[in-house]
Amino acid sequence: MIAGVGAGGLTLALAACGGTDTATGTDAPTSGDATGSAAPKAGAGESSAPQAGGAALAKTADIPVGGGTILKDQKIVVVQPTEGEFKAFSAVCTHKGCVVGSVDGGTIVCPCHNSKFNIADGAVTGGPAQGPLPEQVIKVEGDQIILA
Ligand code: FES
Repeated sequence: MIAGVGAGGLTLALAACGGTDTATGTDAPTSGDATGSAAPKAGAGESSAPQAGGAALAKTADIPVGGGTILKDQKIVVVQPTEGEFKAFSAVCTHKGCVVGSVDGGTIVCPCHNSKFNIADGAVTGGPAQGPLPEQVIKVEGDQIILA
């Protein structure tokens, strides 16, 4: 039985072209054209800054203690459960998605089906809504309440 020699027997004839240089123009290219190729990248990334954070929502003086302000455009309700403590919640009712309508006496009220939410934590205190209003992260800088 003769075992096959296998296909590996081919000697790859790498062309050993050790002869003359193929790079003929070894002393050519300092002709000056290549110097202008520095592409300016100024201004990159400026337009991609996120818009979500840093927006001023309200002034602290505008938020009554035990109450709040509904920012319909941003769909955020900013509240002051106790003096000096500010919080913000989504103003979109977790029942059917109405924007909540009023804040009074520690309660955020949705006008659509009268769901009620506690301003301290957004929890449902009445009505058909099942879930709390999601809290939004804010920070207070000076007298400005800012979306973090
Ligand atoms: S959508 Fe708010 S109570 Fe129904």
